[in-house]
Amino acid sequence: MAHIKLHIPGPVEVSEKTFKALCTPMIGHRGQGFKDLYAKMQPQLQTLLATKQLVYLSTSSAWGVMEGAVRNLVQKKVLNCMCGAFSDKWFDVSKKCGKQAEALQVEWGSPIRAEAIDKKLATGEFDAITLIHNETSTGTMSPLSEIAALKKKYPDVMFIVDAVSSLTALPIKFDELGIDVLLAGTQKAFALPPGLAVFVCSPAALAKAATAKDRGYYFDFVEFEKNAKDSMTPSTPSIPHIYALSSKLDDFFAEGLEARYARHKKTNQMTCDWAAKHGFNLFPEPGFESVTLTCVSNGARPGGRTVDVAKLQKLVKDQGFLIDGGYGKIKGTTFRLSNMGDETEATMNQLYAALDKAMLSL
Ligand SMILES: Cc1ncc(COP(=O)(O)O)c(C=O)c1O
Repeated sequence: MAHIKLHIPGPVEVSEKTFKALCTPMIGHRGQGFKDLYAKMQPQLQTLLATKQLVYLSTSSAWGVMEGAVRNLVQKKVLNCMCGAFSDKWFDVSKKCGKQAEALQVEWGSPIRAEAIDKKLATGEFDAITLIHNETSTGTMSPLSEIAALKKKYPDVMFIVDAVSSLTALPIKFDELGIDVLLAGTQKAFALPPGLAVFVCSPAALAKAATAKDRGYYFDFVEFEKNAKDSMTPSTPSIPHIYALSSKLDDFFAEGLEARYARHKKTNQMTCDWAAKHGFNLFPEPGFESVTLTCVSNGARPGGRTVDVAKLQKLVKDQGFLIDGGYGKIKGTTFRLSNMGDETEATMNQLYAALDKAMLSL
């Protein structure tokens, strides 16, 4: 069957080189070969996340670490900042972990603003917040530096940040931000197959995790730190993914991080231009658009063009491209086009050509 190229916001297209790396012959996860592999990647990961802390590898999707962060770091009450499907779900997950949780809900498409968090934290009720930097369901990016600046005012509150669909597409400087946990799945802007997450913890987060009674084992942050010091993971990891990550990190540094960030900015602008050219509005509040995907309004916002999204998807799929028809309660009233991972101006132009052709039949 012919491959339909992925332009959904994750999983994204995986390169031949990465697939080859996945097929590297197996090694033992307690042997020197594995330690050398992890040790080779550690400085690359630290540069990518701009941190002196050890970066951990979790054989799970992002949710594993998202749930783990709640179990390791929430003792009093967590403030879940909610602005879309994934950030809203973190509230449910916190409650399912048996934690006291409160929702800070804004309208889908709006970002989370520091003032709103400040007001809640001023009550003194919370010892942790969860925040999704780039809410993939709405294509909206919250102002991370502005929010992280609050950490100085509330040093005892754990700032847990999901950068699942933004990490590697723009600079996120963990140590400078002063936040406590930064995590990402690797099937989005990293352009790896699903199944691996990376994360980093502040010394304060590790100290707090050590005092958490019911943090479990698989996502015990203290175990991750202890093992990472020896270039290992707590349990048997997906070694193929780790080979693939190593290959991908080499690609990032061969391209140059700044060039990678500029490429995402440019291809994202091109997608916004494509939407404007066809008379569509964008879904996110202006000024807070994601750089890795474009959430196009298809009636969700007043004015602007609307089309039969299912038909658009089919017409584009017939030309070999998969686009997303909107997520959760904005399915159909939005659609999403991804430019994350390895996409270039040339590959994005192929997508726009297919979309242009489809639009002629709508
Ligand atoms: C921002 C964000 N966070 C979390 C997740 C959950 O990731 P996973 O399903 O890989 O655990 C997603 C998935 O799309 C996401 O976009």
